[in-house]
This record gives sequence, structure tokens and C-alpha cells, in this order.
Amino acid sequence: RPVVALVPAAGRGVRLGEPTPKAFVPVGGIPMVRLAVDGLIASGAVHRVVVVVPAEMVDAASALLSTTSLTGGSMPPVPVQVVVGGAERTDSVRAGIAAAPDAGYYLVHDAARALTPPELIARVATELQAGSPAVVPALPVVDTVKSVDDAGVVTGTPDRARLRAIQTPQGFDAELLRRAYATDVGATDDAGLVERLGVAVHTVAGDPLAFKITTPLDLTLAEAVLSVGGS
Ligand code: C5P
Repeated sequence: RPVVALVPAAGRGVRLGEPTPKAFVPVGGIPMVRLAVDGLIASGAVHRVVVVVPAEMVDAASALLSTTSLTGGSMPPVPVQVVVGGAERTDSVRAGIAAAPDAGYYLVHDAARALTPPELIARVATELQAGSPAVVPALPVVDTVKSVDDAGVVTGTPDRARLRAIQTPQGFDAELLRRAYATDVGATDDAGLVERLGVAVHTVAGDPLAFKITTPLDLTLAEAVLSVGGS
């Protein structure tokens, strides 16, 4: 059953404050989307990659992702396809699903998690292939998290020990993700849609390096990580 990675990279990245769509902003000189795709291929767990980009970036993305170095060492080359995304992240993922109807499993992975270790990607795929229909990487939460009302007044403090920060790639049995996306509701992650179907979502250990590059501070951190790792 083919494992197809879907890489939503069609966001504007307004919070990053760069003129370029976020996935195309370089980290250590390499655009985030290319780093993310290289990580997926290096995991050895992915048969095919579908990258979802803004309409005006299709040509640039195709050029960026077509080079022959996109192979996992001794692994056969992994085909990378570029498709056009939509206004919301869910629209972009839906476009990716439609481009890969043959998938047995989907790994949905944010381009913005450019430094995700290949070992984490492999961990998600292994758990999926062992029979869990939905798998997400999770990390303990370091801050205390509170809910607030419209006026900003605290309404509750969930037990931190029961909370997890959720990363990507999120892995799904392909039929399950197609069913989840057949419903037309919003969600901030793909597993949220699957949970609404009443299907159990399993967690595997996340990795701090899989953080999402969202703000200028995140970009500074990513640059620092790459420069330390490369020296
Ligand atoms: O906005 P956020 O950081 O949650 O975006 C997560 C990922 O989803 C990013 O890689 C972004 O490019 C992608 N995205 C997308 N299409 C959108 C919005 C976000 O592919 N319309």
C-alpha cells in the first residue's frame, strides 16, 4: 500500500512578515518546502510526495523540487508532484488528496516544519503500518494552558499532564482521511477531522526539531539550529 506524503505549502505566512509565501522562505539558504520534502524522502518511508502550493508558485516549486538530488541515498527516486492549493489549509490538503487517489496511507506534513527529523517521519509511518488508522506526533506541553472568554478572562485551566502539543507528519489510513475530508468543516489539524468521525487517534513521540516555523523568532531559531548542525 503506497505511502503518499501530502505537503501543504500554500499558506501566505502573514505572521512571518516576509513578502514570499512562507514555504518558499529560505532557511540556511534552502527554501523550507525543499527542506521538508528532503526530510520526507530521507525517512525512507515515503513512496511519493504531493506538494500543494499557491497558483503563482507552481513553476517555481516544480523547478525547486525537480532536481535529481531528491533521492534517499540508495533508495529509488521518489516522484514529487506539485499541485495548486486553496484559501484554507483544509482546501490545500483536499487538493493533495485528490491528486493521489491511489494512496494506501497519507502522511500530511506542513512545509513549515522544515527541520523535522526523518526518524520522526519513519516513526509515524511504522505505527500506521502496524495498524493504527490515525497517528500524530505529540510532545508534552511546557506552558500552563488556559481557556479564556471574549473579554480575556480565564475560564479554565486544563490539567497540563493530560495536554500534548501536536506536530506533523500526521499519518492516516487513506480511506479514513478521504472520509474525514468528505465532511466540510474546518479544523486546525487533520486529526481533528478524524476525531469527529469517532476514530481513535494514536500518538507517537514528537520531536522539538519538528517545530512549526511561524514567526520571525522561529526563523531565527531554525537558522541557528542549521548552523550548529552543519558545523
Ligand atoms: O498557517 P499554518 O502555519 O497553520 O500553516 C501550516 C501549513 O499549511 C503551512 O505549511 C502552510 O503553507 C500550509 N497552508 C496551505 N494552504 C493554506 C494555508 C496554509 O497549504 N491555505
